[in-house]
Amino acid sequence: MSVRIRVPATSANLGPGFDSLGMSVSLYNILEFEERSQGSIRIEVSGEGVDDVPRTPEYNLAYRGFARYFEARGSKPPGVRLHLNNNVPVTRGLGSSATAIVSGLYAAALIDGRDISRKDLLDLAVQIEGHPDNVAPAVLGGFVVSGLYGGGDARRVHAVRFDPPKGLHCVVAVPSFMLSTGLARRVLPNEVVFADAVQNVCGTALVVAALAKGDVAELARILPDAMADRLHQPYRLPLIKGSELAIEAAKAAGAFAVTISGSGPSLIAFTDDAGLRVGDAMRQSFARSGVSTRILQLKPES
Ligand code: HSE
Repeated sequence: MSVRIRVPATSANLGPGFDSLGMSVSLYNILEFEERSQGSIRIEVSGEGVDDVPRTPEYNLAYRGFARYFEARGSKPPGVRLHLNNNVPVTRGLGSSATAIVSGLYAAALIDGRDISRKDLLDLAVQIEGHPDNVAPAVLGGFVVSGLYGGGDARRVHAVRFDPPKGLHCVVAVPSFMLSTGLARRVLPNEVVFADAVQNVCGTALVVAALAKGDVAELARILPDAMADRLHQPYRLPLIKGSELAIEAAKAAGAFAVTISGSGPSLIAFTDDAGLRVGDAMRQSFARSGVSTRILQLKPES
């Protein structure tokens, strides 16, 4: 049996919503899994970042998702030929890991001939990824608010999905260098100032309310303030050369708000048009800092 699965890229955090908010966007990885009669594993990669995706099964996240499904059912995974047709930039803050994990789990369920609920898929995906804000929109699509509670066997993932606002566009500047989530998490502080936490609570609540309501004129009014973040970006922006100037350039070119996508290094800007000027402004600004970027004009996807 063979299956072909398409999973969207995602942008996590959306400014203040660290480890909680995420949105799927119109860029997709396509993964094919073909069951093999012998127990052998073959991993092939084509497209974006072919040299950056591990072919060793224990390090390949699509295979790990595949194997984790069978482990959770107490059975041995069958042999598989796995072909990753990669369009999502790797280790750039656009959820490429989440696309791999989710497709591996879902392919395993299909090959096993069983229905897997989105909730079970999400629970297993979070066990591998560790936080829900990329895997939740990869599983559910749209704009998703999620949270992780409890620990060990009592761990619970909650996720609430909304349709993304119509008329909202995203312009993503993808720098030519990678930034691992591990490194981007190690620079975060253990404690934060109370007033900073309060500002993030207000910002997250406003971003959720405004995105859920979906009125683009209201988003244009609210996002410039509400997408500000004091919990992670001040520590991560220094890891992304040229990012602070690029954010200012994107705002000057008309973006409502600009934020690090996931743990970076990509920046995501929100606009009410295709954002060509915003994309040019970010590319030129990064170039002045010696950083080459690729600009992606995307839409939130449902
Ligand atoms: N919330 C995560 C982080 C997203 O910012 O570290 C990256 O996977």
